[in-house]
Formats: sequence, C-alpha cells, structure tokens
Amino acid sequence: MVLEGKTALVTGAARGIGQGIALRYAAEGAKVVCCDRNPCQDTLEQIKAQGGEAAEIRADLSKWEDVQKAVGFTTEKYGRLDILVNNAGLTTRCPIDEETMEHWEFVTGVTLRGTWMMCKAAVPVMKKQESGRIINICSIAGVRAFADQSIYCAAKGGVANLTRELAVELAPFGIHVNAINPSIVDTPLFDDQGNPLVGDFLKELTAAVPCHKISQPKDIAGPAVFLAGPDSEYVYGVLLNVDGGWCAK
Ligand SMILES: NC(=O)c1ccc[n+]([C@@H]2O[C@H](COP(=O)([O-])OP(=O)(O)OC[C@H]3O[C@@H](n4cnc5c(N)ncnc54)[C@H](O)[C@@H]3O)[C@@H](O)[C@H]2O)c1
Repeated sequence: MVLEGKTALVTGAARGIGQGIALRYAAEGAKVVCCDRNPCQDTLEQIKAQGGEAAEIRADLSKWEDVQKAVGFTTEKYGRLDILVNNAGLTTRCPIDEETMEHWEFVTGVTLRGTWMMCKAAVPVMKKQESGRIINICSIAGVRAFADQSIYCAAKGGVANLTRELAVELAPFGIHVNAINPSIVDTPLFDDQGNPLVGDFLKELTAAVPCHKISQPKDIAGPAVFLAGPDSEYVYGVLLNVDGGWCAK
C-alpha cells in the first residue's frame, strides 16, 4: 500500500494501460480519479470490487475547458492532486502523403497538447502542495522511428522532451516529472488503427521485441507505481523504457 493517502488522476482510464494503472494505484491505497472521454464504469467496478476508492470524470482532453474540469473535479472531490498520469493518447497509421490535417489535430490534440494542458492545469495545485508526481505515458516512438506513424512519433517526441523540460522547471517546487516508454502493449489501441494485435502482425511485433513477448497493462502499472511512490524520491526527468529490451537494440 505504498500510495496510501494519495490522490491520483489517471487519464484514458476506461481501458488499456490507463485502466491497468488505475487498478494498481487503487490496490496500493490511492484514491483514483478515472478520466476518459468514454465511460470508466468497468474500471470503477473493478476498483470497488477490490475494496478501493475511485471516482469518474468524463472529459475530452483535447479541450482546455475539459482539462480544467478534470483537475477541478479531483481537487473538489478529494482535496488534493498528488499523482497525475497523462496516459490518454492515440495514433493513426499511414504514410505521410496520406495523412490529413484532421489526423494531425486528432493525434496531437490529445497526445501532445492534451498532455501539456493537463500539466498546465495540475501544476498550480501541486505547487501549492509543494509536492506532486507527473507521469507521462510516452512511447518508444518518442525516441525511435516507426514507419507510417509520423504524427504519433512527432507527438511522442514532444512528450519526451516536455517531460525533461518540466522535470527541470518543476523540481525546485517538489514536483517530479517522469515518463514511461512502453513498446508493444496488448490493448485495443491497435484495433482502432485498423491493425488488431492478431495473426502475422502479432507474430511480427512479438519477434521484434528482444524478450519475444508483448507486454500487458500490468507490466506498465508496476513501473508507474514506482514513479509515483517513495522509492523514486530522487528520480527526475527519466524516460523509463518498459519495452522488453527494444531500445537496447
Ligand atoms: N498499446 C501500446 O502498445 C502502446 C505502446 C506505447 C505507448 N502507448 C501509449 O499508452 C497510452 C495508452 O494507450 P493504450 O494502448 O492503453 O490505448 P487505448 O486506446 O486502449 O486507451 C486509450 C484511452 O484513452 C482515451 N482517450 C483517447 N483520446 C481521448 C481524449 N481526447 N480525451 C479523453 N480520453 C481519451 C480512450 O477513450 C481510451 O480509453 C497512449 O498514450 C499510447 O500512445 C501504447
């Protein structure tokens, strides 16, 4: 129960990695605000079934008003905001000459601008508390090239350097900013790209990961507990690769 007494706001908590982090944070004793543009009922039910405390706020995190609403809801409900996990993100998968301006807005609007806006809204609360943890769920696509994902790579590259910049800017205020770079996680993200994680695509990705396994949301949740808890007291500005060895190649 290393997060006992803490309040966490997890974005994109309706499913996938965000859901995995929300469940684990609640199991570690945190009060968890699950934020998503889709209902988080499944996440909330699982947290309540395991005896945890959670609440839900619906928000489109590409919109500044919704971002402010999510942070305001958290502080009104629980009085604090100790841990912010910027996890909501999405991608398209096509060559640059087929990408559109709408794709650019769609992907960067939440993945990069949404992450920056969440930080902007949370920082005044954390500065007042003189403490806080911000954990950006970035990607190895923020530090490596992935063909046919130009917008996603640009957005995640932005999140990677935003993490470093904010770590330096906010460390004097007792606020830690770090990121996790997953490689391939078994979530519905790939379905939405029209590339479900099955068949030859799954075989190809599994073979590309040095440990020859794709990861599960719980594999990201453990490191997210570390970055939110007392064992990372001296950790600032780290991009923690949780990638089965991908970036070591
Ligand atoms: N799955 C992977 O292999 C993988 C690898 C590296 C990084 N990531 C990153 O991890 C994060 C989570 O990915 P996932 O695989 O769990 O994806 P997912 O699609 O399963 O979950 C993403 C969640 O974010 C929510 N969301 C999307 N846009 C939103 C918006 N505008 N406002 C509010 N909520 C919004 C969705 O409703 C969804 O519940 C993303 O930032 C993704 O880029 C995923």
